[in-house]
Amino acid sequence: METRVLAGEIEQLQAEAAVTTIFEEKTAPPESQAVLDRIDIALGGLIKSLIQTGEIKGCANETTLVHTQGRLAPARLLVVGLGKREEFSPICVRRAAGTAARFLRKRGCRRISTLLHGTGLGIAPAESARLLVEGSLMGLYTPDLHKTGEREPRNLEQLLLVNPPPEAASSLEPALRAGEITAEAVSLARDLGNEPANILTPAAFAQRAAEIARNVGLQIQVLEEEDMRRQGMGGLLAVAAGSEQPAKLVSLQHKPTQNAGLLALVGKGITFDSGGISLKPRDNMEQMKNDMAGAAAVLGAMWAIARLQLPLSVLGLMPLTENLPSGKAYRPGDVLHTMGGKTIEVISTDAEGRLILADALAYAVQQGATHIVDIATLTGACAVAFGGLASGLFSTDEDFAEALAEAGELAGERLWRLPLYPEYREALESKVADMRNFGTRYGDASNAAILLRQFVADKPWAHLDIAGTEWNEKPRPYLAEGPTGVGVGTMIRLAERMSRPAET
Ligand code: BES
Ligand code: ZN
Ligand code: ZN
Repeated sequence: METRVLAGEIEQLQAEAAVTTIFEEKTAPPESQAVLDRIDIALGGLIKSLIQTGEIKGCANETTLVHTQGRLAPARLLVVGLGKREEFSPICVRRAAGTAARFLRKRGCRRISTLLHGTGLGIAPAESARLLVEGSLMGLYTPDLHKTGEREPRNLEQLLLVNPPPEAASSLEPALRAGEITAEAVSLARDLGNEPANILTPAAFAQRAAEIARNVGLQIQVLEEEDMRRQGMGGLLAVAAGSEQPAKLVSLQHKPTQNAGLLALVGKGITFDSGGISLKPRDNMEQMKNDMAGAAAVLGAMWAIARLQLPLSVLGLMPLTENLPSGKAYRPGDVLHTMGGKTIEVISTDAEGRLILADALAYAVQQGATHIVDIATLTGACAVAFGGLASGLFSTDEDFAEALAEAGELAGERLWRLPLYPEYREALESKVADMRNFGTRYGDASNAAILLRQFVADKPWAHLDIAGTEWNEKPRPYLAEGPTGVGVGTMIRLAERMSRPAET
């Protein structure tokens, strides 16, 4: 996608469509009110009359298309609703950009000009530029990987960013590039989530990781089952036992400097979760091809971190396996010896994510991680609590939790803090082993997080439960249905923040 920054007035620059925004209060954000007024005059009062007749209401992601018929340089004007002014946040800019790009693609318009939305409301011009690029490309994502006919384009031909404040000019280019890299990483995670389990096996996932590592110079190591056995990874091996597909533990390392810290990103990579012997009910089981969304997010983030050349050492760990029932499958009642020696009694084979993560987290510690983030489609309880509108954030370290919250905010990914009260440990008490993998559905998002905590050796750690946010149930004006790539943006922003000196 070609992105260009241009001085000048949007109504005087050629484009297939120019995009402006409006609030429910029928005012435009400060940076575009004067533009909208001028356009209204040029169009003989058409905008005002559309407002009066109620065709433009300004509600979130409403679209009104006007053909300008030679009265403005752009052939069309698209007015996108931003919702209530008091509810405005950077998410509105992303969504408006995604809505515009999706709406205009349907009408064959791929050369678009836009104002730097939100710059009059406290968003820095470079940040607005990044939001516009990320929002447009994420909006244009299509899940039609295996359709054999003509596929819809996933990008614009040209995005013109018009009239930036002159002092911002030099900051825009890197922001546009970062936006493009982030959006491509999110699309990668979404592609991986969309790939069905018959195609994206653990080995195929590892293959994809190897190709990416080769392209951007990440170090890669793939642990095979015999390596896992040597390391004592009884959790990962038990979950893998029921599958014909060998498990893999992919380790990617971005090592730009010899600095002291090492951020580990650990993602749950269940390429299909049937529940195993504790078989799941049939409804929506096909969505469990996306139970590797955590691992996909880690791969996407590692790819972006390498391309952005961030001056921070980062380790990406992706434990990959299927969870299937068979004569070789692990069973309820089994006791597993995990890496580092802790034992877990299996109550439900469907609580498999915490078992593979236990080993992967212990491995992260062994590899010298100083900070650990794990990301997982871990519990139905989290999906029930938030209805897909936020991911659960758990952390034992206030500064690190704060860093993640801020990263999530910048990425437009809602994170909501959930508790790790010590009493949750009671749910995991086992008569025969150090802990059990499941106690009760009540509080299970926290119970599962408490289990993971046993494996991070008191390092600053945060756990993101993305069950619910990893899948978009119905298409939205700014987002296709299916895998969302959630977490990629947050981890990139976190790594960017940790790359800057004097911050966590
Ligand atoms: N992968 C699921 C969690 C999940 C549920 C992700 C819905 C996305 C959407 C996880 O492995 C699981 O099966 N959890 C069970 C655990 C329970 C049996 C202890 C759950 O939450 O129902
Ligand atoms: Zn499960
Ligand atoms: Zn699962």
